[in-house]
Amino acid sequence: MHLRTAVNLGNLLLSLSEITDSTPAIAQHQLRTAFIALEISKVAGVDRSLTEDIFAASLLHDIGALTVEEKIALHQSEDVDSNPHCIRGSLLLGKTSWFSSIAPIVRFHHTPWNEWHQPITSPMVFASQVIYLADFVERLIDRNQYILYQHQSIIDQVSAMRNISVHQEIIDAFLEVSRYEEFWLDLDSSRLYSSLFYEGPYRHIEIDIQGVSEIAKLFRDIIDFKSSFTATHTAGVAACAAKMGAFFGFTPLEVTMLEIAGNLHDIGKLIIPNAILEKPGKLTENEYALIKSHTYYTYHTIHNIKGLEQIAHWAAMHHERLDGSGYPFHYNSSQLDIGARIMAVADIFTALSEDRPYRKGMPQNEIYQLLNSQVRQNYIDGKIVALLFDHYDEINTYVRENQEQARQFYERRFKTINFCHTA
Ligand SMILES: [Fe+2]
Ligand SMILES: [Fe+2]
Ligand SMILES: [Fe+2]
Repeated sequence: MHLRTAVNLGNLLLSLSEITDSTPAIAQHQLRTAFIALEISKVAGVDRSLTEDIFAASLLHDIGALTVEEKIALHQSEDVDSNPHCIRGSLLLGKTSWFSSIAPIVRFHHTPWNEWHQPITSPMVFASQVIYLADFVERLIDRNQYILYQHQSIIDQVSAMRNISVHQEIIDAFLEVSRYEEFWLDLDSSRLYSSLFYEGPYRHIEIDIQGVSEIAKLFRDIIDFKSSFTATHTAGVAACAAKMGAFFGFTPLEVTMLEIAGNLHDIGKLIIPNAILEKPGKLTENEYALIKSHTYYTYHTIHNIKGLEQIAHWAAMHHERLDGSGYPFHYNSSQLDIGARIMAVADIFTALSEDRPYRKGMPQNEIYQLLNSQVRQNYIDGKIVALLFDHYDEINTYVRENQEQARQFYERRFKTINFCHTA
């Protein structure tokens, strides 16, 4: 198997940023914010290292807004408290060594200039202020109206800000770039992803598989913390898949790739509103269709990142079945390799064994019965299920440890943010 282990950081970030904003009402919000922020930075003469931080922070600035509902409310400037998503975003980024330098920028991206006590010459203040304005401008755009029918009114609104919520130097830089129709047409263009990829500040930066693994863990938390019902599910699937891969004889690199696939397997769920994910009653046909689409989005999000094609396959096939009755690709046994088969078993095992708010996790003997009935129906691979039960205690303990670690952070640090803030 040929494995590429270097991935372009811009490609990775753009794809992960894009999937977190895939609902039509907010589509590409962070990408568009990043474009505006970059153009302001160019005119303001920002140095390369700060430009990179502004770019990454823009692409991830709203990752602390976990649900589709919260993202839409923030985007539409409804009466929502913007602080919790800033605090959550900075807490998640602070845990990731690649992004710890941008955590403070994200923390303060909604802080108006008149609340700062530090000068604009501080790089962190400057970057936060650039994203404050870029985000504000992006949210002013009416997506149902042609961009050049509304750009002048947006420019007028920014001119009226006059050094109150945004420092005048940044307003002036925006007024300079926004004079050109080209700026607005680029901003509204379907080529935005590719122009940020080919011309953005990360176009020459590659990261290795360990870097990808760390960023995948950040997205694991974003996926899991979206709902308290499944707050440690991804952590369990990744641990289970990695352990089974190692027992099967995968190389250390392949085990890391399986773990990354596990951490990203449900990334497509970021497009599904919590009202559906957490619906207590039976789902309607349309709601179920939406849920079933999540692995399609998982596949294309990851597959679009050059070098991660194998990981995309492993991550997105976890609802496929050997007899072709799974979804959404309806692949059969000839198209599902060992990694994909491991991922399917890891997903089912973790879901059955973990506690949910509405039911306790199943004991080993019941999981055994259920998985083996799925083997008999030719849904999942009997060899992989046998491997799981041959090493059950070790795999189960490893999964519990990983889920417990994730739960500690979620319960003690993360979930309390809303309460801390309003207290
Ligand atoms: Fe925000
Ligand atoms: Fe935003
Ligand atoms: Fe799934």
